Amino acid sequence: MNAAVFTAIKQPLACQTVPDPVAAPGQAVVRLKAAALNHRDLWIQLGQYAGIKAPMILGSDGAGVVESVGAAGDQAWVGREVILNPALDWGPDPRAQGPAFRILGLPDAGTFAEKIAISTANLAPKPAHLAWEQAAALPLAGLTAWRALFTRAQLRAGERVLITGTGGGVALLALQLAVAAGAEVWATSGSAEKLARAQALGASGGVNYREAGWAAQLLQTAGGPFDVIIDSAGGEDFARLIELTRPGGRIAFFGATAGNPPGLDLRKCFFRQINVLGSTMGSPVDFAGMTMLVAARKIVPVVDRVFPLAAADAALRHLEASAQFGKIVLSC
Ligand SMILES: NC(=O)c1ccc[n+]([C@@H]2O[C@H](COP(=O)([O-])OP(=O)(O)OC[C@H]3O[C@@H](n4cnc5c(N)ncnc54)[C@H](OP(=O)(O)O)[C@@H]3O)[C@@H](O)[C@H]2O)c1
Repeated sequence: MNAAVFTAIKQPLACQTVPDPVAAPGQAVVRLKAAALNHRDLWIQLGQYAGIKAPMILGSDGAGVVESVGAAGDQAWVGREVILNPALDWGPDPRAQGPAFRILGLPDAGTFAEKIAISTANLAPKPAHLAWEQAAALPLAGLTAWRALFTRAQLRAGERVLITGTGGGVALLALQLAVAAGAEVWATSGSAEKLARAQALGASGGVNYREAGWAAQLLQTAGGPFDVIIDSAGGEDFARLIELTRPGGRIAFFGATAGNPPGLDLRKCFFRQINVLGSTMGSPVDFAGMTMLVAARKIVPVVDRVFPLAAADAALRHLEASAQFGKIVLSC
């Protein structure tokens, strides 16, 4: 089969012919129709991720048709249209993943390929209202956004939530899920055009985080602080998020795209009873909750652009430039 292979740090992904995957007991082979990029793929290519090994087929998101099932597996999966849950072996504790937990696409071979072997426990029916590219865009971003919003931050209908860096893949799905759940959603972005598009998806408004004084401007525009903030940027602006949270409010974060926050004023955090909640991916229960809301409310992940599998490296460069609004997808 063809695959886009990570061969070494800071080298372009190489389009290569590699052996077809074989389903081990408990696994299925899925003929992929589409795969989607995540920032993780870029961190790995840049050498900024733990446990890097090469050669490796990257890619955590995929959708396709089950071609075969390994020994003693449930043959009912064969021929079904599926999406892949990229959170492998979460473990028994819903509060945190166990020691066997892995994210699809390192160390296990990922979705930037024509086929993949994956445990049948990580297959879920493709939501019927989604095209292949939209379905591939859903799993990792939807799962991460769901857990941060609902399992960790316990967002409720009518609450005010701020989503930072809304053009990002997870952030935009968080915006869509929060709107569907009846929250009042505000956004930040580095681009006025992306803020306008966020409003078209149901955000009440937003500000550009590149402008000086953006936090004060947002407090004024939004009419006060937020019950919940969802962040994956971290960096210098994380201190602003504490000021933007109402006393007793929640900040759920799952990334540090802009680095670790310098100069945090911890007093503002504890005196105002702020809950700062780390979050990563999600449990099988989170994944089921996310797909149920997506199916019930016919949520359609925003696909920024589709590249052919052979142009996977060009797709990563597009992600690196933060040029996207939503998910970047590969057609397999
Ligand atoms: N822990 C987990 O389970 C988990 C899961 C998924 C992702 N992540 C992490 O979360 C982050 C986002 O992942 P992704 O795949 O959604 O990435 P992505 O699609 O590449 O989106 C990144 C977005 O970050 C925003 N951004 C950049 N600098 C910012 C800043 N200083 N302030 C606010 N926003 C900023 C930009 O938004 P605009 O375009 O709107 O300016 C950009 O589009 C990455 O660090 C990733 O590693 C963690």
